[in-house]
Amino acid sequence: MTDIPQLTLNDGFKLPQLGIGVWQIDDATTPGVVSTAVELGIRLIDGAFIYGNEASMGEGIRQSPIPREGLFVTSKVWNANQGHAAAHNAIEDSLNRIGLDYLDLVLIHWPCPKRDQYVETWRALIEARDAGKVRSIGVSNFNPDHLDRLIAETAVTPAVNQIEINPRFQNADLRATNDARGIVTQAWTPLGNSKSFDAPVIRAAAKRTGTSPAQVILRWHLQLGHSVIPRSTKRTHLTSNLDILNFHLSDTEMAALATLNADNRCGPDPITFEAD
Ligand SMILES: NC(=O)c1ccc[n+]([C@@H]2O[C@H](COP(=O)([O-])OP(=O)(O)OC[C@H]3O[C@@H](n4cnc5c(N)ncnc54)[C@H](OP(=O)(O)O)[C@@H]3O)[C@@H](O)[C@H]2O)c1
Repeated sequence: MTDIPQLTLNDGFKLPQLGIGVWQIDDATTPGVVSTAVELGIRLIDGAFIYGNEASMGEGIRQSPIPREGLFVTSKVWNANQGHAAAHNAIEDSLNRIGLDYLDLVLIHWPCPKRDQYVETWRALIEARDAGKVRSIGVSNFNPDHLDRLIAETAVTPAVNQIEINPRFQNADLRATNDARGIVTQAWTPLGNSKSFDAPVIRAAAKRTGTSPAQVILRWHLQLGHSVIPRSTKRTHLTSNLDILNFHLSDTEMAALATLNADNRCGPDPITFEAD
């Protein structure tokens, strides 16, 4: 297998461009999925408090054939844990549940603008980073105004903004916003609930390259230059999702995929999402 490319974050740490997300994987399944993914070559594991499986994700990490230092482990501070003290506690609790003494990346999961606590939450992340509990800090689902407020009020730019990106919701303006601020973009729900698998441009690219629609979509993400964290519980899918490093989409195919954007989200809108 070709090595997975790494992206350099604005704090100097390296983020694997391709990883696995563990949302909606139950506790019984998570350890096997994580350890299989690592055995196959995945090094980036994207978790979160709200996924409810941090402990079993940690179990998978311990069962995996790679020492912890070789892995890149992410968690996220959930909406109900925003606020300075609550965020500190949330990071400590995630570390304890996963069974690690540091996380590679912690993100504020959603901005929750009505709560208006993301700046003080961000200060807690900065302190956790400075205390060595977290290597890199970032955000998720932050719009340009949320990013600019964090930067203006704390002078610390997030290393990562994890946002929804898939063929039907390409989020090009927000990707450009991240780029302009030196923030690495990471794509969630990268396969877009399979809704574009039958699009003729994807079918044609899959046929030409001898790959599957999912592989074409993941390759499209890599060629756009951001990080991507597809989820799968199946060994066959984990294997094929990794097997996207040895083919290339042409400029024409990339341009054709760009036309699939319909500004159609799979997930919630960060402006209104405030769930506890
Ligand atoms: N920050 C946020 O707000 C946020 C929001 C949503 C998600 N996320 C993160 O992003 C990760 C990925 O997003 P997601 O889980 O929503 O969706 P996804 O990765 O786009 O899609 C997962 C679905 O695609 C299927 N799949 C995977 N590989 C496939 C393949 N090669 N061929 C066909 N089907 C395939 C999986 O089924 P099988 O299991 O059967 O393979 C699963 O049903 C999450 O796990 C989570 O870590 C973050």
